[in-house]
Amino acid sequence: MIVANRLPVDRVRHPDGSESWRTSPGGLVTALEPVLRANDGAWIGWPGSADDEDFEPFVEDGLSLVPVSMSSQEVEEFYEGFSNGTLWPLYHDVIAKPEFHREWWESYVRVNRRFADKAAEVASEGATVWVQDYQLQLVPQMLREQRPDLRIGFYLHIPFPPAELFSQLPWRRQLLEGLLGADLIGFQLPGAAANFVRLVRSRVGHKTHRDTIYLPDGRPVKATAFPISIDTAGFEELARSEGVARRAAEIREALGNPRKIFLGVDRLDYTKGIYSRLRAFGELVRDGKLDVEDAVFVQVATPSRERVEQYRILRDEIERLVGRINGDHGRIGRPAISYMHSSQPREEMAALYRAADVMVVTPFRDGMNLVAKEYVACRFDNGGALVLSEFAGAAQELRQAWLVNPYDIDGMKASLLEAFAADDKEKSRRMRAMRRTVVANDVSKWAADFLSALDALPDHHDKSVRRSHAR
Ligand code: ADP
Ligand code: G6P
Repeated sequence: MIVANRLPVDRVRHPDGSESWRTSPGGLVTALEPVLRANDGAWIGWPGSADDEDFEPFVEDGLSLVPVSMSSQEVEEFYEGFSNGTLWPLYHDVIAKPEFHREWWESYVRVNRRFADKAAEVASEGATVWVQDYQLQLVPQMLREQRPDLRIGFYLHIPFPPAELFSQLPWRRQLLEGLLGADLIGFQLPGAAANFVRLVRSRVGHKTHRDTIYLPDGRPVKATAFPISIDTAGFEELARSEGVARRAAEIREALGNPRKIFLGVDRLDYTKGIYSRLRAFGELVRDGKLDVEDAVFVQVATPSRERVEQYRILRDEIERLVGRINGDHGRIGRPAISYMHSSQPREEMAALYRAADVMVVTPFRDGMNLVAKEYVACRFDNGGALVLSEFAGAAQELRQAWLVNPYDIDGMKASLLEAFAADDKEKSRRMRAMRRTVVANDVSKWAADFLSALDALPDHHDKSVRRSHAR
């Protein structure tokens, strides 16, 4: 059973009063949806709307979904507040300033309790429950208190910060203890797992040895890195389809057949470095190093967390920058940047990846970044160039990308030009190596590695409680 803040689908209400479901945004859903399909499990989560009365578990597109509702005040305090105004910036190198509010924390505790109660209610005896991400860090402990018979895993999809930053959090100890309710805690990178173990030792005082923490009652908890991935074969198959090939050609045609297409695809988030990459591209056009007849930058930004102020400010800044660059350098039918603030279907994403000569992924900090892996998966022709921030988790695996420091605009400009000018042999050498990595390490391997590590842990559950647990 998967427990995540969001269900893999979002409820959409249409003006005529009808309702439908659409895929939820973000990497967590991209990664876990195929895992749920393959394992025939259930998914507990929020349907993305506020103030709905509770509704029953349902099946949508073959997935068993168990909804947990939230009031509009909880959306404001738990989701937009503590999850995305406190934890998200704190865990991403404080790129934006985290805010600490006691009401937000209280709401976080309340909503985490609701998810834990729901999981405790629906999990069968001895089930494996896999809790996901920063919105639900208290759930493992709350769930274990009620259901010690369960095997509980937790996976953090975003970075885990260094002790110096994490320690700012007034509720740091409660979060660490919440996570320690799990048997296995998974992180994107070994450095994150090590940060966590060190913090538990210093702040909670438990004994640790390498990746294992020993709780006072003798129960061990493991904290290990499992770098997440994508359904590589699924993306490649889509990219190979005739429809996608046709659409990729249409996209190039619609852009005026430029010699090279640069592409950025992200949730509109301040961690993604969208502004800096567009600035770097704009300066290359201004400096005469690139010409709008020759090159165009396509940026697709998914609307995200739009009621959070920092996201609103970011949107305005990016739109102003795009307007300025196009105003200064565009010609009729030839904008320097083609910008879309929208979410696109998977087929369109695959067509964009196939059409793009240079994929530009420049986050200031990112747990993994699946867009980079999707691009590689779609380039079965071994073509295309990936420019990738060294601060994305994916940079640890995709070493053959043009690695950049997104804080260094001149460095980024130089790498964009190099990738633009690279010959086919160089691009194919790099792409082949990256494809080997993404093919060998797909999301089914990631899930199998995590779940078999969870399964292999010794059974330290309290047998007396298990026997007395009546279901
Ligand atoms: P995050 O989880 O922070 O959003 P990732 O790069 O790990 O970042 O995952 C983003 C996911 O969202 C990818 O699967 C990507 O294909 C998808 N995505 C990003 N932008 C769009 C968009 N404009 N339309 C549709 N899907 C998008
Ligand atoms: C990232 C987070 C996910 C989150 C997603 C979309 O991938 O790790 O937990 O679901 O972004 O963000 P949202 O706030 O729309 O759920």
